[in-house]
Amino acid sequence: MQEKIIILDFGSQTTQLIGRRIRELNIYCEIVPYNKYPFGDESVIGIILSGSPFSVYDEKAFRADLPALRALGLPMLGICYGAQFIALEAGGSVEPAPTREYGRARLSYVDGGDPLMKGVDTGAQVWMSHGDTITSVPDTFRIVASTEEVRMAAYAAPDNTWGVQFHPEVYHSECGMQILRNFAVGICGAHQDWSAASFIDSTVEALREQLGDDKVVLGLSGGVDSSVAAVLLNRAIGANLTCIFVDHGMLRKDEFKNVLADYECLGLNVVGVDASAEFFKELEGVTDPERKRKIIGKGFIDVFDREAHKIKDVKWLAQGTIYPDCIESLSITGTVIKSHHNVGGLPEKMNLRLCEPLRLLFKDEVRAVGRELGMPEHLITRHPFPGPGLAVRILGDITPEKVRILQEADHIFIQGLRDWGLYDKVWQAGVILLPVQSVGVMGDERTYERAVALRAVTSTDAMTADWAHLPYDFLAEVSNKIIRGVRGVNRVTYDISSKPPATIEWE
Ligand code: XMP
Repeated sequence: MQEKIIILDFGSQTTQLIGRRIRELNIYCEIVPYNKYPFGDESVIGIILSGSPFSVYDEKAFRADLPALRALGLPMLGICYGAQFIALEAGGSVEPAPTREYGRARLSYVDGGDPLMKGVDTGAQVWMSHGDTITSVPDTFRIVASTEEVRMAAYAAPDNTWGVQFHPEVYHSECGMQILRNFAVGICGAHQDWSAASFIDSTVEALREQLGDDKVVLGLSGGVDSSVAAVLLNRAIGANLTCIFVDHGMLRKDEFKNVLADYECLGLNVVGVDASAEFFKELEGVTDPERKRKIIGKGFIDVFDREAHKIKDVKWLAQGTIYPDCIESLSITGTVIKSHHNVGGLPEKMNLRLCEPLRLLFKDEVRAVGRELGMPEHLITRHPFPGPGLAVRILGDITPEKVRILQEADHIFIQGLRDWGLYDKVWQAGVILLPVQSVGVMGDERTYERAVALRAVTSTDAMTADWAHLPYDFLAEVSNKIIRGVRGVNRVTYDISSKPPATIEWE
């Protein structure tokens, strides 16, 4: 049985990061909503309570059933809101901080003899982000770390319970990994045996058991997630897997052809379907971003459904859904920024059982699994690309001519990134076709043509992103090549917005 740590999610933006850090320690963990602890699961070795956007006194604040969790007798670590919640329930008090504590602070006191604080130095930087602070704790609690401003920065409570008011999971907390390691390994006794190879072995075995001789279909997108899912399934069930790769007409230049060839090399059984004409027809005159997404999502489902029905006796639909997709779509605070079409829709329509072998992996783990499976590096390091493709990078209505212009410009940008050795340094890059025309001059001629924006970002998980600080000389070369080489474009701009407040895609 794979031992695991459970992270109870109280809605903090950094909950996923806690999960990633624990996995980086080669320890398996799962994030579940604050009120969905898997009682009865004997493989859990420890519990972490995350932060939250709420104050513990907020009427809407999420509350877990602490007595029931305590009764499990497992080690527990509260982070930020989690720490405040545990302290409050034990009879301590939490009050609004005189000033909102946000950003870097340094530990001015550390109890180095405490198991959670072992190896953590006084003076280490930690990251604070809270509006409330713990002002008193019961006598049975011990303060194990303080900062100048926050006396109860960390406490040890009875019954193997600890709380930290700062965020050990964020990169800025210098001692963060040490604290998480102390908790997971030192206190919970984790064996650190979770790896890409162990994941492949156990998943292939589980898939064989789950699927038996059943037939499975899988939608490939060219992206790393669906490709890794396909290769993993292929290893488990071979020819019983059929992959379908739909060209909705809004892929990158030559992508359909190239990716199909890659898949064939990998020994996958792939059906390529060129449905671009249907999609262009449905999208004619549509300018609203959400409608475009819905049309493509629905169109994709229709085409896929039609093709899948040509295969006899299919019982399962496999998808390359990964962990952040699940967590984002189940987000307990429930704000929809954009409707991604990867999760939902298809299974209901097709009446097939769903198989998602990567649903508990983070992106970097999916890549590690792909490498371990021997997939070529260019498929594994491929930038993420949105399901609706270039449709959400053409502002306004979509026509085949606009797609052609964008494909050409995008090709120059991406090829340039590769030639300059910059491709792997950015998280993702692309070009956006703007719905504006501007005056230019070429030779002796006045031009009145389109503007494009280049977008390149650095990120670790797409939840937040910074614009990539690409060299001016590179940008100059790309701009020249696009304006000289792409008919219909006479102006190139560079997008210098980070996420938040902007998003990565423009629509
Ligand atoms: P945003 O624009 O929300 O994008 O900052 C975050 C990441 O998700 C990708 N993205 C999508 N992926 N279907 C997808 O499969 C979609 O509809 C979609 N919209 C955005 C985006 O490219 C980035 O990596």
